[in-house]
Amino acid sequence: MKAIAVRPPTPDSVHLRDIPVPTLADQPHPHVCTIPEGRSVLVRVLQIGVDATDREINEGKYGNAPKGCDYLILGHESFGRVVDVGSKVTEFQKGDLVSCTVRRPGKSLFDSIGRNDITSQDEYYERGINLCHGYLTEYFVDDAEYMVKVPPTLKHIGVLSEPASVCAKAIEQAYLAQTRLQVWNPKRAFVLGAGQIGLLATMMLRLKGLDVFTIARAPGPHRKSQIAEAYGATYISTQEQSMQELARKVGAPDLIFEATGSSQIAFQAMEVLGNNGVLIWTSVTGGQEQVLVPGDSINLKWVLGNKLLVASVNGNRKHFETGIKDLAHGEAQFPGVTEQILTHPLAGLDRFEEMMHLLVHEKNALKVFVNVSE
Ligand code: BGC
Ligand code: ZN
Repeated sequence: MKAIAVRPPTPDSVHLRDIPVPTLADQPHPHVCTIPEGRSVLVRVLQIGVDATDREINEGKYGNAPKGCDYLILGHESFGRVVDVGSKVTEFQKGDLVSCTVRRPGKSLFDSIGRNDITSQDEYYERGINLCHGYLTEYFVDDAEYMVKVPPTLKHIGVLSEPASVCAKAIEQAYLAQTRLQVWNPKRAFVLGAGQIGLLATMMLRLKGLDVFTIARAPGPHRKSQIAEAYGATYISTQEQSMQELARKVGAPDLIFEATGSSQIAFQAMEVLGNNGVLIWTSVTGGQEQVLVPGDSINLKWVLGNKLLVASVNGNRKHFETGIKDLAHGEAQFPGVTEQILTHPLAGLDRFEEMMHLLVHEKNALKVFVNVSE
């Protein structure tokens, strides 16, 4: 069967290769973890989403092939249909729609309680990213432990399960951390970036009833601003109004969700957060950029204002479940909006060059994804 792979850290190594169709008896990550006897699930891939992480892996900035292998199969945003299950799988049956989580456990205490998303190991294992093969192929097999059901009513947006899990975790972590304040009633949020993560975070914060300002570069109207506004947020272009000006006008935010991919903006966000507020960082910045910040002023305002920074990566199966519930809740509250994120479908794995080209050059591509099968 076909698979889209790279040879990290060689830049521009994306290619199509032929690999064997997996069976229930296979161990997909033999150097990392073992599927217990009878607990395997075989999945036919329907759609796989790609994002800036896939681009950075192909640029040689990020990611590693599995040990003993000179290539890495890409793809960490999975959506597929169960075609076979092992004898000890009770929670899935043939035909179920599923998304499969990204991380596999290491050896830390957190990994041992199912929190591989917060492993304390420096080495982490992520399908399609680091040391484990990904999902950009026709079939995959994995442990039922890492599969999450997607209801048939969400089939049209099931490919967003993984990005939704990343947003759901980040917001959950911020709210958990804010219990430090005993009473916290956030009213206003700034979401920085209007890519898939920024827009899904906009939706989730709107579902919580916050007044959301989604802030990105290009002046609207365009698809990103229209989606943000359809979720009931206000779209702001930084070319028309800076974050500072906006904060002066509408009041400082109680929560900032940073998802621009720019470390400079991640630090700039520190200058506008309100007292007792929480700043969430989610950008994975593979580059080497240096940033100059007004250190004294930020330090002073953060100490005097009891502010908090929460950094968040990945999502475990619980966050996938929350993310999928939020997608469903979003469909009920804002019908037909989330699917507008799915801007750039590609017909089949053969289109791998076009896939990378879109990730690198197409600034209007909100979501590039591969339709692998019907
Ligand atoms: C993925 C996460 C992953 C992170 C770091 C992101 O693109 O969505 O699941 O943990 O990259 O590798
Ligand atoms: Zn990702």
